[in-house]
Amino acid sequence: MPLKHLTWLKPDIEVLGCSFCITSTMGRTFFVLLALSVTLAFWGVFPVKAEDAYRFYTWTVTYGTASPLGVPQQVILINGQFPGPRLDVVTNDNIILNLINKLDQPFLLTWNGIKQRKNSWQDGVYGTNCPIPPNSNYTYKFQTKDQIGTYTYFPSTLMHRAAGGYGALNVYQRSVIAVPYAKPAGDFSLLIGDWYKPNHKALQQTLDSGKPLPFPDGILINGQTQFSFSGDQGKTYMFRVSNMGLSTSFNFRIQGHQMKLVEVEGSNVMQNIYDSLDVHVGQSVAVLVTLDQPPKDYYIVASTRFTRKVLTVTAVLHYTNSRSPVSGPVPSGPTYQLHWSMRQARTYRWNLTSNAARPNPQGSFHYGKITPSRTIILTNSASIINGKQRYAVNRVSHINADTPLKLADYFKIPGVFSLSSIQSSPSDGPPYLATSVMPASLHEFIEVVFQNNENTMQSWHLDGYDFWVVGFGSGQWIKDSRRKYNLHDALTRHTTQVYPNSWTAILVSLDNQGMWNMRSAMWERQYLGQQFYLRVFNPIPSLANEYDIPPNALLCGKAVGRHS
Ligand SMILES: *[C@@H]1O[C@H](CO)[C@@H](O)[C@H](O)[C@H]1NC(C)=O
Ligand SMILES: *[C@@H]1O[C@H](CO)[C@@H](O)[C@H](O)[C@H]1NC(C)=O
Repeated sequence: MPLKHLTWLKPDIEVLGCSFCITSTMGRTFFVLLALSVTLAFWGVFPVKAEDAYRFYTWTVTYGTASPLGVPQQVILINGQFPGPRLDVVTNDNIILNLINKLDQPFLLTWNGIKQRKNSWQDGVYGTNCPIPPNSNYTYKFQTKDQIGTYTYFPSTLMHRAAGGYGALNVYQRSVIAVPYAKPAGDFSLLIGDWYKPNHKALQQTLDSGKPLPFPDGILINGQTQFSFSGDQGKTYMFRVSNMGLSTSFNFRIQGHQMKLVEVEGSNVMQNIYDSLDVHVGQSVAVLVTLDQPPKDYYIVASTRFTRKVLTVTAVLHYTNSRSPVSGPVPSGPTYQLHWSMRQARTYRWNLTSNAARPNPQGSFHYGKITPSRTIILTNSASIINGKQRYAVNRVSHINADTPLKLADYFKIPGVFSLSSIQSSPSDGPPYLATSVMPASLHEFIEVVFQNNENTMQSWHLDGYDFWVVGFGSGQWIKDSRRKYNLHDALTRHTTQVYPNSWTAILVSLDNQGMWNMRSAMWERQYLGQQFYLRVFNPIPSLANEYDIPPNALLCGKAVGRHS
């Protein structure tokens, strides 16, 4: 029997794992299986470990109708909900999630910030998975390995993200791990983002016809413009704020209240106090708010950043003993103050002594002492190709191949992608369309500079990793810019902003083999080519570095009929 099929023995071992209540004959079987499981675990065949809990989900994706901006429109529901269900799990949990697609188009979810260790098979993007056809399903199987924090999931296919289908994904600490703050009295997820009245197909048609998206019609908080949160006076609550929009940064604030920032995409940060916070597309932050004001209702506000016209949405923070509705002016926030935002970003620092998901302090990995093996410089650009609006990185505007790159790699299918399709630094010449894959070696430690020569905000995301955000600067990055890097207590995160006509530098430890999407988190740009895949590879195949193809992998394109 091929080893990969043994993966599916796992649930049996789980049952037998109740070893205190088994008979002696069963006991023998148990030890045989245990020995097998230990051996296989050693080989890294299991994406899972026996002691870690399993969580089973069945999610059905359908269209529905909602009127978030006052007019009925088509939205994407998961199990009837918009936004989708909140996924609360614990570090190292095994998630077995059967996703049933009842839309009229192929569909995938991606797990934003979940590192999918050794397991890009479950990343849920076009480069790793065949989209789930209509009236069909795929069972994701992954582990929230060594992670704690505030994450999200969302559709990666077409422009589905513009219609919903997204939700909060919180990974809580195991009981043996202490987080650096007291357990809050409540824990709220705020999925905030720009929103359009036209449905996702209309928006896609706009982009396909070569035109940019119009300015958004509004902003939503949890799919609404009138959300309300309720808490007791004197108690402290956690607000997990994520930017689920397509293209717009926002500033977040709560009338009369201060926010203590405690966690950013899995990093425990120095707990500074803020009146307001900028959250860029694809990012998440977690703050603690103490209800220390007179009992009434207060505005929660998000307003767009760096836009000529400012869109604002409010929600309500209701004290349970309040007898007065919200009142007074909606508190204002920064609108176009770029340097304010950059300065704020530099105040986000790792708490070096705090635990991460494992008991050792997160600062024990001295990233600043490692010399990067090379520097990758990525410049984004907007241009017209074949008469249509496109976006590119280092001159390549990515187009999805007919076959997931990961499957092409596994089945050694030629002609799907080329490792010389994109350069690792910018060059002169016109942009062009290609399936864009950049090669990298497992265990490289690299420096990546995002050089933004456009006059617009950028937000860059890397799947499979978190990275140290070591510097933000204006103008052109030069070697000397390194002198301004934070090589001591920069935080790690999965999505970083890049300011207009500015650069952002990150360091990445490429310890996760796989095919990983590096993309603009701004969905119009991603859809029109501002993305590529980083193929983190080791020439010697080893199941200790990367899991085998899942037995239920969907096959499409040139992989149809191949046997796994
Ligand atoms: C679809 O769902 C069924 C269970 O209803 C499951 O057995 C099957 O593996 C799923 N298909 C895939 C491709 O995961
Ligand atoms: C850093 O983490 C430690 C250990 O959990 C905690 O005691 C301390 O308060 C934190 N410091 C700040 C400034 O957040």
